[in-house]
Amino acid sequence: MGTPQPPAADTAPAAQHALLHGRPGADAAHAGPEHTHTAEPEAELGPTGRPRRHVPEPQPLPSHGPAKIIAMCNQKGGVGKTTSTINLGASLAEYGRRVLLVDLDPQGALSAGLGVAHHDLDLTVHNLLVERGVSVDDVLLHTRVEGLDLLPSNIDLSAAEIQLVSEVGREQALGRALYPVLDRYDYILVDCQPSLGLLTVNALACADAVIIPMECEYFSLRGLALLNDTVDKVRDRLNPKLSLAGILVTMFDSRTLHAREVMSRVVEVFGDLVYDSVIARTVRFPETSVAGEPITTWAPKSAGAESYRALAREVIHRSGR
Ligand SMILES: Nc1ncnc2c1ncn2[C@@H]1O[C@H](COP(=O)(O)OP(=O)(O)O)[C@@H](O)[C@H]1O
Ligand SMILES: [Mg+2]
Repeated sequence: MGTPQPPAADTAPAAQHALLHGRPGADAAHAGPEHTHTAEPEAELGPTGRPRRHVPEPQPLPSHGPAKIIAMCNQKGGVGKTTSTINLGASLAEYGRRVLLVDLDPQGALSAGLGVAHHDLDLTVHNLLVERGVSVDDVLLHTRVEGLDLLPSNIDLSAAEIQLVSEVGREQALGRALYPVLDRYDYILVDCQPSLGLLTVNALACADAVIIPMECEYFSLRGLALLNDTVDKVRDRLNPKLSLAGILVTMFDSRTLHAREVMSRVVEVFGDLVYDSVIARTVRFPETSVAGEPITTWAPKSAGAESYRALAREVIHRSGR
């Protein structure tokens, strides 16, 4: 990846430190060979302000698994974690990848966003985490998108943090639960809740990589330092394989100077980790939450659907799967 440049003076010192000393992991190392984005003089700039790097069209997979687990994580709410989990998942499935989505937020927005009446479910991720003898297949639902499955949640999950506290290996509960189905999927995307509590630590403890969706506004930058710290700690103490896969800028409005300024700061600090695919702000996304389906099926030709497909191509390229 490119050497991070020092952020400008108005970034808080703590944030500066953590942002500059964050250690992007293995994924960053093969974020695409350097020579693929030597800019031709007239290369068109993407929304990040850089030329888009070349990403090949994904090829069909001859066989499936073992799954790469990706935690969709940001302790700030309303930044596009759930929307990105649904639509990245659906786009990966369109490319023939087998995908399992895990709703790890007691709000159940991921489940609702896929049209599941989650309040009425008997078995959810909560049972999977705290009860012996409940398996993934007891909880698993198929969605209307082929190749896209879901482990749903509802408010019951809010008890899990407290119930798990006294357990041995409390940080590994999710990893243990998912282990039996790793061979069936190519990607498992975990939609985290907006906190860095025990549920999120469970996601980080079993993940291969973290994708950080962030809203393109100034205050989003500050929270990233704390998140980076947490990722570092989990890597040191629980999960050496954990890497930062990428930063996904969401709700981008290229017409505002503010958004463009925040974007250039993010690119300055995180370099190649910032996906070239950027999700623009559009009312189509709130619409899809009401419709209970991904934008790739609700409005397949929309710019939003295309952006998530482009993200899926980048994710596939970076992970080599
Ligand atoms: N690109 C976007 N443009 C406009 N609205 C969006 C976009 N992405 C998400 N939203 C809306 O913003 C709200 C928060 O998004 P969500 O994905 O639920 O965030 P999080 O899971 O981080 O809390 C939802 O109402 C969602 O429909
Ligand atoms: Mg959410």
